[in-house]
Amino acid sequence: MAKDSASKISTATVPKSKKPMLIAPSILSADFANLEKEIKAIAAAGADWVHVDVMDGHFVPNLTIGIPVVASLKKVSSLPLDVHLMIDNPEKYIEEFIKAGSDYLTIHVESTKDPRGCLQKIRELGARPGITLRPGTQISEIEPLLNLCDLVLIMTVEPGFGGQSFMQGQVAKIDWLVEARAARGLEFLIEVDGGVSDKTLSHLKNADVLVAGSYVFKNDYATAIKTLKS
Ligand code: DX5
Ligand code: ZN
Repeated sequence: MAKDSASKISTATVPKSKKPMLIAPSILSADFANLEKEIKAIAAAGADWVHVDVMDGHFVPNLTIGIPVVASLKKVSSLPLDVHLMIDNPEKYIEEFIKAGSDYLTIHVESTKDPRGCLQKIRELGARPGITLRPGTQISEIEPLLNLCDLVLIMTVEPGFGGQSFMQGQVAKIDWLVEARAARGLEFLIEVDGGVSDKTLSHLKNADVLVAGSYVFKNDYATAIKTLKS
């Protein structure tokens, strides 16, 4: 945590009244042979968004899905698509991911030389810009970008795979963001991704959106989503 940045923010600011928690199941843990069925099932079970993990085998050591799958999901989803790009040089693909139907499009600050330009381009093209960072990256790296974002995603696992253990040390970043947002009069949503479950929920009360892959798809969807909203 960047001590210098954190110290500039007044702790006297009062956070806005809390809205209901939004739940974004990550389809990384869904049955890929039945994605339409899975999307409809999570919508019926009370999900608010669909979280789509895009990995390129370079920025992270895993390969998942790309633009044609996002376009296909858009045709069958009644929920907003929350697309998390874990790819190098996202600027090359932003336009195509938005044309494919991304509602929120989140980039990693480490993945590009021009995160500011990427965020501006996402907004210009009509989607909602999001920024995220690896667990080892200081929050000061995204601090100058907060005013460009509709979403700030805190990774509570190393990006790349579902089913990993929650990194409790990242929770301080969520709390810092809550204060920074209030102090600066910003309105971005704070999302958390990685190891979210009934066991880790108590650390996440300050978040606005919870991504959950294995916890939703390995349990009864409606019960899991209801638990996370509680
Ligand atoms: C990891 C992905 C996550 C992942 C979360 O790189 O960004 O969205 O699907 O999976 P769980 O909820 O199983 O930790
Ligand atoms: Zn994700």
